[in-house]
Amino acid sequence: MEYNYLKIEHKGGITILTISAPKTLNALNSGILKELGDFVGKLDASTRVLIITGDGEKSFVAGADISEMAHLNEPQGVEFGRLGAQVFRAIETLPIPVIAAVNGYALGGGCELAMACDIRICSNNAKFGQPEVGLGIIPGFSGTYRLPKLIGQGYAKEMIYTGKAIRADEALRIGLVNAVYAPEELMGKAMEMAEMMLKNAPVAISLAKQSINEGYDLDADGAIGLENKLFGKCFATADQKEGMDAFLNKREATFKGE
Ligand code: CAA
Repeated sequence: MEYNYLKIEHKGGITILTISAPKTLNALNSGILKELGDFVGKLDASTRVLIITGDGEKSFVAGADISEMAHLNEPQGVEFGRLGAQVFRAIETLPIPVIAAVNGYALGGGCELAMACDIRICSNNAKFGQPEVGLGIIPGFSGTYRLPKLIGQGYAKEMIYTGKAIRADEALRIGLVNAVYAPEELMGKAMEMAEMMLKNAPVAISLAKQSINEGYDLDADGAIGLENKLFGKCFATADQKEGMDAFLNKREATFKGE
């Protein structure tokens, strides 16, 4: 598939995906969502960390495309929501870490895209919000599910019912982002974090992600049992042998992802 809205850059094991629809501040139309789905589905083992950002200095993603949604009826609304939700779920369940480098507006579907990533860092001009109720709709790309998980129901309900946009410092305070940087530092910091991840055992990171993500929706015994099973799986990997041998012999480990 040829991409009209995605810019892709590979740097070692790190892939940087830039969503690019500058005329609409990178708002997500169904064309972009389909491209995103295609891209995520085709990622192979050469990508060990994915960084997602938006084109330009003003916006990460300013939401789902309102001009496209304006004319939808009920079944079309279901379909549009399902498309976004499926693509975001595919991002969330990738077996590699995904970092959102939020470089400006992350509103509606933009905030929801950032929340489907494992980790969010942002520039100090970023603004986060779920303004959907002001348009007569609710968050439709799984925001009502992920926002309360990330920041708690009280704050999530305040953001969703008021539709207010919050600044980067507030997003940091409530745990929606991990760190805030000057705009010119953001991508460098995202790369730094990705490079730290690259030094570690890929299968172990993948199993840790699975344990956190799947364990979150289980009860205590289920989550602890899942972790135990995945912990055991690590001992069947060459990387575990390599990591522990390297430690015991006081040398750097070289992981192969096996
Ligand atoms: N959809 C379609 N077009 C959008 C858009 C969106 N979500 N956001 C911005 N644009 C367009 C604007 O219409 C404008 O186009 P024109 O130049 O043709 O007029 C262009 O992008 C630039 O935007 P502004 O002139 O509005 O720029 P600004 O700096 O004055 O404001 C903004 C920036 C605060 C982000 C403002 O554009 C805005 O409020 N955008 C809408 C944000 C929003 O409501 N997002 C949620 C969408 S609903 C959703 O996402 C549902 C869901 O959960 C699936």
